[in-house]
Amino acid sequence: MRRHVILEGDIPVSEIIVGRSLMSEIAQAAVGVSTRVAVLSQPSTKAYGEMIATALQSVGLNTTCHTLPDGEAAKDLAVVHDIYRVLNRAAFTREDLVIGVGGGALTDVTGFVAGTYLRGVPAMYVATTLLAAVDASIGGKTGINVDGKNLAGVFVHPQIVFSDIDVLDTLPHHLKVQGAAEAVKTGFIEDMEIVQAYEATAVDAVDLEFIVNRSVAVKVAVVTEDFTEQGRRAILNYGHTVGHAIETASGMSHGEAVAIGMVSAGAASHAVTGFNGEGRQSELFGKIGLPTRVDQSIEVDRVRALMASDKKRDTSGLRMVLLKEFGVPVVEAVDDATVRVALDAVGLSP
Ligand SMILES: NC(=O)c1ccc[n+]([C@@H]2O[C@H](COP(=O)([O-])OP(=O)(O)OC[C@H]3O[C@@H](n4cnc5c(N)ncnc54)[C@H](O)[C@@H]3O)[C@@H](O)[C@H]2O)c1
Ligand SMILES: [Zn+2]
Repeated sequence: MRRHVILEGDIPVSEIIVGRSLMSEIAQAAVGVSTRVAVLSQPSTKAYGEMIATALQSVGLNTTCHTLPDGEAAKDLAVVHDIYRVLNRAAFTREDLVIGVGGGALTDVTGFVAGTYLRGVPAMYVATTLLAAVDASIGGKTGINVDGKNLAGVFVHPQIVFSDIDVLDTLPHHLKVQGAAEAVKTGFIEDMEIVQAYEATAVDAVDLEFIVNRSVAVKVAVVTEDFTEQGRRAILNYGHTVGHAIETASGMSHGEAVAIGMVSAGAASHAVTGFNGEGRQSELFGKIGLPTRVDQSIEVDRVRALMASDKKRDTSGLRMVLLKEFGVPVVEAVDDATVRVALDAVGLSP
């Protein structure tokens, strides 16, 4: 078992525990916070949530279980409203604890509820997808979808995130592939050992304890260094400027869209910094089973419009995370010619 700690200055604000068979750790951590716990889950994680609730009850805690709609449908204001009512009926106070058990969608909505119910109650997450374990559960961003994805959210750190490798080992293939996209993203910007692990082994056979610990270590270091999101944290968006636009335009999954976004950012990097790792990136995506091109008829103008409305756009124009070389990211304003190169590389030509 390994602990990672996010600091704000010198003060620990959030802990990430990566290990196996974490049930008693979860129960003991909850005992230290409150006597009353709400366990939020989704149909896919309900059984696991109930096991956690049983463990909590066995140490004397009063528990309320609530199941949300599956996947992204949980990130909805009506669902949040329902949860507020469940907490209110259970007479939840500001001292009581909310534990979210699920993937990134579930942890995003759990954090949103924890940050807003009674102006803030403590939260813990149990990350049950690889993507949540390596990325979504860490860093304090929460969100629900209004017209746009994550249009409403609050910054709030869970006290503890638990990532149980025994659970991640049982994930279906497609969820291991989704999570691999964010793990290798973390690798390309900061830790090539993650990339090498995926290069050396099949995506279903890779050592997830190693992958999660390495990825978490990078994200924790970047978030600690840039706690208030002034700059460096932007490197975590490698592949996301084009990726988000493709995700919205195509309805493709986040991991697939981000893989295409990294191919695109790789081409832009080549044009701007002379980066020459594009071939290695694309080869790895092929091996993992992630796409490297858009193969449906998405309109390039729509992708451009979505990129232009991207939240990361600032007054100096469109910015992208580029690589000088693997492990050396830079955030750069890009001109139109570079954007054209980036889109062209993934099959988005006018
Ligand atoms: N807050 C952040 O910093 C951040 C970062 C990245 C992504 N996100 C968010 O994370 C979400 C994506 O996360 P995700 O990829 O985990 O998707 P997800 O949460 O939608 O989970 C994908 C599917 O897997 C199911 N699932 C969860 N655990 C499972 C398990 N152990 N076994 C089988 N099925 C399981 C879910 O029910 C869902 O159907 C998006 O909403 C995205 O916006 C947030
Ligand atoms: Zn992402």
